[in-house]
Amino acid sequence: MRKTILLLFLFVIFICNFQSSKGTNVAFVNIGTFSGSNYKKTFFVPRSFVAVWQDAFTICKSFGYELAAFDTEAEYKNAQLFIGVALFDKLIAITDWAHVGGMGIFNETISQNIWYWVHNNKKISYPIDWAQGFPNVFDFNGNCMAVSKSLLRFRNIGCFQLNNQSAQSFICQKVEKK
Ligand SMILES: *[C@@H]1O[C@H](CO)[C@@H](O)[C@H](O)[C@H]1NC(C)=O
Ligand SMILES: *[C@@H]1O[C@H](CO)[C@@H](O)[C@H](O)[C@H]1NC(C)=O
Repeated sequence: MRKTILLLFLFVIFICNFQSSKGTNVAFVNIGTFSGSNYKKTFFVPRSFVAVWQDAFTICKSFGYELAAFDTEAEYKNAQLFIGVALFDKLIAITDWAHVGGMGIFNETISQNIWYWVHNNKKISYPIDWAQGFPNVFDFNGNCMAVSKSLLRFRNIGCFQLNNQSAQSFICQKVEKK
């Protein structure tokens, strides 16, 4: 019992140490911002850890963020300016792809996925720049979304830890009202 309490205590200390005095998270690197008409977004990438999509979703939440979404084409074009640069220059390009918060839901009528941003359940409103060969076969592992660091294009990627789904880096966002 005493041991459990000690471990819990150490865990809390460990978690608290993730927060620096400015309230920014030392586990993440700030890679860029977007200034909308009445909101501001800041994007973060974990410094040294990778995850499958589902876990990335949860990790962003647990740090008070959301898995990143480029809600408008302007946001996406803006992200193209910093994604590759940040990830290569800051040497945090640990995987080729970075999970973002998009998910494809199959529509029977048109026999195609319709893609949504999960943080607000809104359809992606602009043409998606898919990487060559993507989206590929749809399977029972769901259709989540990742963005390439080098090509600045999207791919579909499995959502869950199945079939050796590989862990990738991921991008979280923090949205603030202006
Ligand atoms: C599926 O697609 C059809 C045709 O575009 C559309 O009318 C329908 O609302 C869609 N269903 C859903 C659940 O989005
Ligand atoms: C998962 O990956 C390991 C190591 O690469 C491999 O040995 C194993 O067969 C794979 N399992 C499946 C179900 O693909």
